[in-house]
Amino acid sequence: MPLTRRAFLRAASAAAVLAPAAPALAGCGGTEDVPTVPFGARLPIPPLDQGTVETSDGGPVRTFRLAPQAGTHEYVPGKAAESMGYNGAYLGPTLRAARGEKVRIRIENRLSEATTVHFHGMALPAAADGGPHAMIDPGGSAAPEWTIDQPAATLWYHPHPHGSTEKQVGLGLAGLFLLDEAHDGGPAAALPHQYGVDDIPLIIQDRRLDGSGKVTFDPSGNSLGTLGNSIAANGTLGAVLPVTTQRVRLRILNASAGRWFRFGFADRRRFHMVASDGGLLAAPLELDAVQLSPAERAEIVVELRPGESVMLRSFAPDLGRVSPPDAFGGGRDFDVVRLDAAASLAPSSALPSAFGALPAPVEARTATSRSFTFSGRQINGRTMDMGRIDFTAAPGAPEVWFVDNVNPYQHNLHVHGVQFRLLDINGAPPPPERAGWKDTIPLLPRERNRIAFRMPRYADAEHPYMYHCHLLTHEDQGMMGQFTVGT
Ligand code: C2O
Ligand code: CU
Ligand code: CU
Repeated sequence: MPLTRRAFLRAASAAAVLAPAAPALAGCGGTEDVPTVPFGARLPIPPLDQGTVETSDGGPVRTFRLAPQAGTHEYVPGKAAESMGYNGAYLGPTLRAARGEKVRIRIENRLSEATTVHFHGMALPAAADGGPHAMIDPGGSAAPEWTIDQPAATLWYHPHPHGSTEKQVGLGLAGLFLLDEAHDGGPAAALPHQYGVDDIPLIIQDRRLDGSGKVTFDPSGNSLGTLGNSIAANGTLGAVLPVTTQRVRLRILNASAGRWFRFGFADRRRFHMVASDGGLLAAPLELDAVQLSPAERAEIVVELRPGESVMLRSFAPDLGRVSPPDAFGGGRDFDVVRLDAAASLAPSSALPSAFGALPAPVEARTATSRSFTFSGRQINGRTMDMGRIDFTAAPGAPEVWFVDNVNPYQHNLHVHGVQFRLLDINGAPPPPERAGWKDTIPLLPRERNRIAFRMPRYADAEHPYMYHCHLLTHEDQGMMGQFTVGT
């Protein structure tokens, strides 16, 4: 058993708490109230945090501080609701570091409950990953560190306590972690990159509110868990982004527990997607909509004309063979953020025609193949057991995974510690928006997705990495497994 006795006892007690299939959640139940909040509030931009550089024997370390804490937040003006945030009442700062830098995150838990901080999409040692074994008690602290060793990307961080991730993320614990290339003079330099000016973070979450403006959870509502019909952008309903440049880059994160979005613009104007979860695509991709399942990201660049307004909308998502077709969040549109262009716009650089080919996915012949069947709340017939390691792999070893969803509703797949490539869906090549670096992919009904990647290069027999469905209700209910990277 590669777990310490203390971790095992903690795991056992977490399992006991989990015994009923649906964990008790704060504000559980209640009725949904969909307030009419007119578009008009300025979109808040999470503060940019580049940390401070501490120098020790090992050289410079870019050091950040994150303090999860409770507070209140108003979704509906005048109605304060219980919330959680990092370093404040709601969401968290946007952390930013460059490839090659050593980073350290000093975490201090000021909540009255245990939490973890997981770095979603980051290539890092399992001991720094912040999965469910890395619990930090109230008043406790942790200081994971690692060296940034992957391309520029829009990653994020959020809690991962087994059984209460939906509640903690839903109350507001989520933030972005932007990675840059250290000396980027390449084609990416032409992308809009002034944070908060023409490079805009958008953390999008559906909220299920009650009449007093509080977030409520509905784990019994349907097979996806809570689906709310109020859509918050950076925590705000009816948000407006003032645009002052010809082109803006939107870094969109679907931070919802269970809702799929299909983002586009109300006038169906076309835009360019430039990056997926783990970094730039091979070239800008012209689209009129991009669909994101929970935890996926897309960076898009859109052009505006002086003086115009255009609505970023989520169109009814394509959920494949979901049955019945309008269930599980299908069948409806939401207005998300209005972009209001100034009367005159500063010119932006033209988009480059290409960013550079991505390396070929690992050669299937040399890879270890594994199969995972997603059904109900189980992967290969088992629910998460904190004391069970599902498999062990060698550092850097090539892997090909077959992942099947046998349910008539959607799941998705996220793997910790790596960025992978999608090889095919039911044998056909992936759509171009999913052909780049991914850490999360949708699993629509009756679909077989095949992915390829190399295992993390960090050997550690003690600390596991997770793979799971990122529908947070499913994750909390145990739709998760764990692997270690041994020697
Ligand atoms: Cu976004 Cu296992 O997490
Ligand atoms: Cu993750
Ligand atoms: Cu699922």
